[in-house]
Amino acid sequence: MAVSPDEFKASLGCRATGVSIVTARHGDVVHGMTVSDFASVSLEPPLVLVSAAKTARTLELIEAGKCFSLNILAADQQDLSNLFASKSKESERFAGLDTREAVTGAPLIPGAKVNLDCALAATHEAGDHVLCIGQVEHVEIQDAEPLVYYQGRYRDLTPIDG
Ligand SMILES: Cc1cc2nc3c(=O)[nH]c(=O)nc-3n(C[C@H](O)[C@H](O)[C@H](O)COP(=O)(O)O)c2cc1C
Repeated sequence: MAVSPDEFKASLGCRATGVSIVTARHGDVVHGMTVSDFASVSLEPPLVLVSAAKTARTLELIEAGKCFSLNILAADQQDLSNLFASKSKESERFAGLDTREAVTGAPLIPGAKVNLDCALAATHEAGDHVLCIGQVEHVEIQDAEPLVYYQGRYRDLTPIDG
């Protein structure tokens, strides 16, 4: 029996993931969106993979600018996650945000737990998404707790040993 979109979403929602913002730049235009997860692909060279909906404007910018940054959000960045997922507030996403450019030129989100600056290495169509593989050119890690997403809600990490 075919798996329904609701069943599929419900089953994948049972994975606890981090939350990241992927950003891109083409010329003077910057854009970005929230993604729940990405994959590590290769150690040498260091490659990561983010899956972008074919309808996402961020995908256009990644393909045009040939770079992206992946910013793993800190536990206190829920509002930023919601803002970068909201279509109605699309024009406000970078308002008041003090972004920096790293090696590739993609903007880095301040206050994130990790910033990965990536050059676009390849893209592959997969269903209604495009897999964007990036070679990591620069990494910054901050001392912060990560934001966690599980079954449609934000969480933080509680150690199981109390
Ligand atoms: C927790 C969370 C995870 C998401 N993960 C993805 C994802 O992996 N890929 C994707 O294309 N959209 C994802 N989205 C949806 C986009 O953030 C949303 O559609 C956004 O408005 C797209 O922006 P854009 O079209 O301006 O690029 C996610 C949203 C949330 C709240």
